[in-house]
Amino acid sequence: MTDSAYELVELANGSWSVRSREVRETFHPVVGPEAEARSLYVEQLRLPERMAAATAGFVLWDVGLGSAANVLTVLRASRAVTGSLRVISFDHTLGPLRFGLNHSARLPYFEGYETAVQQLLDQGKVDFMNHQQPVQWEVLGGDFPTRMAEFDRVIEPPAAILFDAYSPARNAAMWTLPLFCNLFRRLDGSVPCNLATYSRSTMLRVTLLLAGFWVGAGEATGVKEETTLAATDPRLIPRLLGAEWLTRVRRSTSAEPLLHATYQQGPLSDENRQRLEAHPQFQGGSLGIKD
Ligand SMILES: C[S@@+](CC[C@H](N)C(=O)[O-])C[C@H]1O[C@@H](n2cnc3c(N)ncnc32)[C@H](O)[C@@H]1O
Repeated sequence: MTDSAYELVELANGSWSVRSREVRETFHPVVGPEAEARSLYVEQLRLPERMAAATAGFVLWDVGLGSAANVLTVLRASRAVTGSLRVISFDHTLGPLRFGLNHSARLPYFEGYETAVQQLLDQGKVDFMNHQQPVQWEVLGGDFPTRMAEFDRVIEPPAAILFDAYSPARNAAMWTLPLFCNLFRRLDGSVPCNLATYSRSTMLRVTLLLAGFWVGAGEATGVKEETTLAATDPRLIPRLLGAEWLTRVRRSTSAEPLLHATYQQGPLSDENRQRLEAHPQFQGGSLGIKD
């Protein structure tokens, strides 16, 4: 089933996912949109539980809105939370969201949220009651790395980030060290924040550490036996990377962070190795896990 830049693909388990024909990537391959969003983001970031504990409201950043499977799965899982939720979605196109809504018969995660999504498409923001939970959802357009580099723009800092760009090989601009440094600088030190993403690559994990995050092995999803969980507070990460992972980094041929929007692989430079080894995560010996 095709429609201009996007198409729907049927996965082996019978669920459907949106695919970009231009980038040639399926948004939620293997297990499908809801299952991936639930295990990778809802459960791993402990969202309903953390939202329920956030007395002053909770801010969620959704990087790569796409066709909104991640946000809508989070919303479905947090309906019983009574505290307010503010969702800030980022994407430089609303094309996949429009496509997804037009094909919602095959994408059941839209069910019950069609009116809210239509208003988001029409007005760029929507306020609604997600059962018990008051929600303000806004989408910020434009190039995400450029937006993060604009320090005059105030965007409310998040308590959690769903990071779901296309893969580094196809979408290098979304995975560079300067981007994650800029993103990290926008976080509020007094609001603990965690970030999950599907990649488990050494390059990405080094990038997140050098940007200032604590980083751990994330849970499996689909055929990926591991993902990545980062946070400003190590207590939000059950399985921190440790000394053995650091040893593997030293041997890796693909550990150097991307500095520009061009995908390339290389071993870690001496300068970055020293910076990595000085990260508090690798001091003291007992914090990290073995891989
Ligand atoms: C894998 S899709 C996201 C899927 C989405 N999270 C969902 O649940 O349906 C990646 C998204 O990142 C967006 N994106 C890629 N590069 C971007 C950039 N430089 N700035 C803003 N958005 C970008 C794409 O337009 C695309 O919608």
